[in-house]
Amino acid sequence: MVEPTTMALSHSQAMGNSAPGHTAVAQARTHLREALESLIQWAEDLQECGVGHVECDPAALSQLVVPPTAQKRPEERLAEIARRIAQCRRCPLHRTRTRTVPGQGNPSPELVFVGEGPGTEEDRQGLAFVGPAGQLLTRLIRALGMTREEVFIANIVKCRPTERNEGVRDRPPTDEEMSACLPYLHEQLDVLRPKVIVCLGATALRGLLGLQGISRLRGKWQNYRGIPVMPTYHPSYLLRAGGEGKELYWQVWEDMCEVLRQLGRPVPERRRRS
Ligand code: URA
Repeated sequence: MVEPTTMALSHSQAMGNSAPGHTAVAQARTHLREALESLIQWAEDLQECGVGHVECDPAALSQLVVPPTAQKRPEERLAEIARRIAQCRRCPLHRTRTRTVPGQGNPSPELVFVGEGPGTEEDRQGLAFVGPAGQLLTRLIRALGMTREEVFIANIVKCRPTERNEGVRDRPPTDEEMSACLPYLHEQLDVLRPKVIVCLGATALRGLLGLQGISRLRGKWQNYRGIPVMPTYHPSYLLRAGGEGKELYWQVWEDMCEVLRQLGRPVPERRRRS
């Protein structure tokens, strides 16, 4: 496992790549992860077809590592991850999904929102945050002086989790479902390299950072691989609490103003009505 990383790094250095060390390491990590992801998916497919073992040519295996200089553009790399997600059968959610929901938006965004997982409407359209919670998120993004196209919106899991896997009532993803799906989000974030990540709700906070306690941690900066992370409440929770204008909404608004300050953007003047 160590060898391909070393190869990718020394190739980059030999080509005079002036990227700082941590960028080269992150790129090498991404390439290695992508290669392993494809390999695992292929092995799982073979296993499902009844194949018990395969013989590997080491020379062919080394071809899986793409040198950083041959790197594709972020949109191509995101599309490639989305293609793998569309074929994923790593957890039982693939059996009940209508469509996978990889996430969408700007491939080089300053800001990434991470939610929990698709609901009914997301599962139908294959797009993240397009149901009622998504509409609230859209209004929030606009109120911040941004657009949905400017940011990237993703989820911890890419298939809709439902009670007893019956495809009817939404439920939060299990730990197993999250662990199976999280490598995709890590890969996406390696490509996206945002300046700030917003974790929407407890599941996003737990999935991305392994932290519990959204009420305690909301509004307090955290860190994901060097990227500032702002945890805040999930839009569905805001809707259940009465939506815009209610106390919880203003708490989220304050968290988002912190995000704007971190990004060096102007903070819109909005007043609570008391
Ligand atoms: N829609 C999503 O895409 N994610 C959520 O977490 C909730 C609704």
